[in-house]
Amino acid sequence: QMKQPFYGAYQSGILNPPPAAACLVSFDVIAYNKDDLKGLFKTLTERAAFLTQGGKPPSTGDKFPPLDSGIVGTYINPDNLTLTVALGASLFDERFGLADKKPKHLVNMTRFPNDALQAESCHGDLLIQFCANSPETVIHAMRDIIKHTPATLSVRWRRDGFISNHVAATAGKETPINLLGFKDGTVNPNTKDPKVADEVILVTPENQEPKWATGGSYLAVRTIRFFVEQWDRTPLQEQEAIFGRERGTGAPLGMKHEHDIPDYSKDPKGKIIPLDAHMRLANPRTPGFNQHQLLRRAYNYSDGVTNAGQLEMGLLFLAYQADLKAGFITVQERLNGEPLEEYIKPFGGGYFFALPGVKKPGDYFAQGLL
Ligand code: HEM
Repeated sequence: QMKQPFYGAYQSGILNPPPAAACLVSFDVIAYNKDDLKGLFKTLTERAAFLTQGGKPPSTGDKFPPLDSGIVGTYINPDNLTLTVALGASLFDERFGLADKKPKHLVNMTRFPNDALQAESCHGDLLIQFCANSPETVIHAMRDIIKHTPATLSVRWRRDGFISNHVAATAGKETPINLLGFKDGTVNPNTKDPKVADEVILVTPENQEPKWATGGSYLAVRTIRFFVEQWDRTPLQEQEAIFGRERGTGAPLGMKHEHDIPDYSKDPKGKIIPLDAHMRLANPRTPGFNQHQLLRRAYNYSDGVTNAGQLEMGLLFLAYQADLKAGFITVQERLNGEPLEEYIKPFGGGYFFALPGVKKPGDYFAQGLL
């Protein structure tokens, strides 16, 4: 049985390779005061510690509603489950007196030029990223949390995601394929190197954030619809030029292997990899910008059809970084106007701050903040 640790300096669900199933739920916090809020974080801690490590839920007899939904059987297997808890800027408003402890880059996500943000799919006080090997485990955990927090959390929006079982089982060796048919996540910081994780992904004292935030990470969530009917009628050559990579192998155009690194200085006019190719805009590899500073951990989503009868599917873009400005915002600003925009429409998401980990039994989420 695969199990991710619950206790630690940072939360699970960030650096470990993404398992096959995910669910994002964003909540409004309806707690009345700081004490209730503290109670909420204690409950979340207790439930997450149990669900991620597994065990047998206690029975309450048949005169009471069962404590557990029963949808994964009588014994809860960890199944690689992680619950990653993150806070939105709105939690730091006047309600709980936390304004002066807000992480410095945490604001409500702003609109980028190609966005069509829908209010009902954006922002939230608190977001939980559930990931596990199977959708049942994810749904089980989500229902457990909702059952235990009726007076403190109210669901605002939710999206389920998936990547291929086969790819997930390689635990990071193979790259997930997105619903446009391209490998997505090839060039990412090395999450196994603690130095890289500290420099790029996790907040350290160097980031000059409030003290409690050390071990946390900014999470940029973007729910992005794909116009797949249109994409499926686009010539392969054009598709590949849009990303700058071959579809099948994932190799940069003109190269052989997925992890080959292009030398853009030998292609200054973009004859091989167009200057406006997604990967070249995202990371031009020029001296002042030789490294993008974010960890992409995206999932696919697929949810029925739109009112106009088009397939409703796309990407749950998730990116973790120690510095939201140097990471997501800088890269998204570079991508504004890219040719890929003809095929995508970001409609929701938000900026969140994934809490530092719960260090040891008895501690609880956001302890340093409260
Ligand atoms: C690279 C797809 C949105 C940042 C890539 C690659 C693909 C891809 C296929 C090349 C393979 C790889 O390195 O993973 C998509 C799709 C998107 C999307 C389909 C949404 C519709 C974004 C957004 C950002 C972003 C919103 C950040 C703001 C990057 C970065 C790279 C990359 C940093 C690596 C570039 C490199 O170092 O060569 N993306 N992406 N992408 N993308 Fe995206």
